[in-house]
Amino acid sequence: MKKVTRRFEGKTVIVTGASYGIGRATAEGFAREGAHVVICARGRDKLEEAAVAIRADGGQVSTEVLDLADLEAFAKLINDTANQRGLDVLVNNAAVTRHGPIATMSIDNWRKNFSVTADATFVGVREAMKIMIGQRHGAIVNVSSTCGSRAAMGVAGYSAAKAALTQFTSCAAMEAAAYNVRINTVIPGSVDTPANRAAAQGDPEVIKALEAAIPMQRSGRPEELAAAILFLASDDASFITGAELPVDGGKLAQLYVPAVLK
Ligand SMILES: NC(=O)c1ccc[n+]([C@@H]2O[C@H](COP(=O)([O-])OP(=O)(O)OC[C@H]3O[C@@H](n4cnc5c(N)ncnc54)[C@H](OP(=O)(O)O)[C@@H]3O)[C@@H](O)[C@H]2O)c1
Repeated sequence: MKKVTRRFEGKTVIVTGASYGIGRATAEGFAREGAHVVICARGRDKLEEAAVAIRADGGQVSTEVLDLADLEAFAKLINDTANQRGLDVLVNNAAVTRHGPIATMSIDNWRKNFSVTADATFVGVREAMKIMIGQRHGAIVNVSSTCGSRAAMGVAGYSAAKAALTQFTSCAAMEAAAYNVRINTVIPGSVDTPANRAAAQGDPEVIKALEAAIPMQRSGRPEELAAAILFLASDDASFITGAELPVDGGKLAQLYVPAVLK
């Protein structure tokens, strides 16, 4: 049986975009290990559903209905949380995605890719860093994507925003390191979430083809991403900052080799 650890007992953790998918699994993981989790998303119903599940499991949770495109509201959530409960961990997980070829992409859709992934992550890191540097402890984990490290068709805006997030995170880690504040990036590959299924238009053949191209021959589970995020946020990673951790079934490490050479 898996040993239950309580690495976040008495700590306060904010997870953005935690009503479903990777964010929800992450919030559940922190709560199971003793944290009070503050979760936010735009849709109230799914957010409350997640909170009910966390409480049913014995966890402590607060919810905030919030569009992260509202940067002032996000900054206020971080500062209010810190004033009321303290702030130990921030996970910038939510993303807004506008796929499509460059030739037909509007400037509005291009910018939407950056609105949450780059802009809200910047504001979240800035506000949390000020608090954490002041208290001389804290951890931030930003969620990027393999698209931010490798090129693919039809995802230029999303990929550029994720690349910005990954590099911004490394720079932030440098500014925070001397103050015992660690900032790291998790890089998911394909993970079985509602967003990922929607991107594959629910087509099992598309999903099968995508999974066949992953060295481990399957998508990740949200809990597998959560485990990596919890690790980087925990004292188990006490000497790790500025790291980029792929959780992708081997995808980023893969050299393309034609199938005939198998
Ligand atoms: N799934 C994958 O295969 C995969 C692969 C690589 C990277 N990632 C990254 O992993 C992260 C999580 O992805 P995911 O697949 O779990 O789902 P997602 O669709 O990216 O995010 C879902 C969560 O974010 C919330 N959200 C979306 N837009 C928001 C906004 N403007 N303000 C506040 N909350 C917002 C959603 O709730 P509401 O819609 O109610 O707001 C939901 O709780 C993202 O950063 C994504 O880019 C995922």
